[in-house]
Order: sequence, then C-alpha cells, then structure tokens
Amino acid sequence: MKLSPAEQARFVALAKNITERPVYQTLKSFTQHGSVTTYRHSLHVALCAFRLNIRLHVRADERELVEACLLHDFYLYDWHTKGDKLHGYHHPKIAAERARRYFAVPDRVASAIQTHMWPLTLFHVPRNRTAWLLAAADKICAVQETLDRGRNRRSGPFFTGFGRPGPLGAVKSVENDGKWNRKNG
Ligand SMILES: [Fe+2]
Ligand SMILES: [Fe+2]
Repeated sequence: MKLSPAEQARFVALAKNITERPVYQTLKSFTQHGSVTTYRHSLHVALCAFRLNIRLHVRADERELVEACLLHDFYLYDWHTKGDKLHGYHHPKIAAERARRYFAVPDRVASAIQTHMWPLTLFHVPRNRTAWLLAAADKICAVQETLDRGRNRRSGPFFTGFGRPGPLGAVKSVENDGKWNRKNG
C-alpha cells in the first residue's frame, strides 16, 4: 500500500491547499481519539482514503477526496469538552457548514462530509465514491487511533502507513514539522 513518489507529491500538493490555512491549524489544539489531534486524525483519514482510491481503483476525484477527508471533522471545537451527547450524530452537519463557510467547498464535498458517520446517521447515506471512501477511511483510522491510545507510538494507523518511509515523507511535507509525537499533533 505504499504510495509512489508521484502519488505522494500529488497528495501533498492537494493537502497543502487546506492544511496551510491558519484556521485549519487550529485543529492541532483539539483531541480526536486517544492522544491523536483532530488535525492528525484528518490527515490519517485523507491519506488512507487517497491510498484506497488508488489501490482499489475506485476512481474518485483526488482533489475532491482530499478536501472532503481533511474537512470531515472541521467543526472547530474539542468534542470532549464542548460537544453534546449526540455529538457523533450532529457534527457532520456542523463540519459541512463550516467547510462551506471557510473553504467554499462544492456541494459534493459538503455532502460527503455530512454522510461520513453513516450508518450512525441512518438517513444520511453516502451518495458518491468520495463519500464512501471517506466513511470507510474514517472508521479504519478511528479504530486504529483508539487502539493506539496511550502507547505513544511513532507509527500511525497501519492502513495509512504513517511511520513508514513513503507516506511519512508526504506527511512531513504537509506538516513541515517532521516528527510523529503528541506535541506536533
Ligand atoms: Fe467525524
Ligand atoms: Fe473523523
């Protein structure tokens, strides 16, 4: 599941359009699962979906896919302290609204964000390839991040391949920090 250098370069170029915006950097201050920040979780999901798209020949639009994945939890608060008991159900709609407001995402991206928690959101079913990839990648990464809780590993979700030479290089380029640890989100 390694990305080729050309695939990595495409991923980094697409991701930077989002991650370099100051408002996006605020996701580094919110915890998602275990010791993983929302920023890091969103990168995991984006890279996992990007790889699945290539390896499974899903043929989703890469720009749309990376945008939807990076913004799928863009609700801009820490759900541990500010979310209500139905956060899991409500946050896709909030994230979609904020993605529209701050990044002017098109309808297909907003729709993918809004359906990423399916089947929890029973009637909001993924409606296109991007949405299905996002929903699958989010669950894969959430499980892995939760299992890694407290272990402070340098490697990330096995499915994304963080911690291994290829994809880690891509993430380093996006984040410009170069290290996998809590401080760097
Ligand atoms: Fe989410
Ligand atoms: Fe998520």
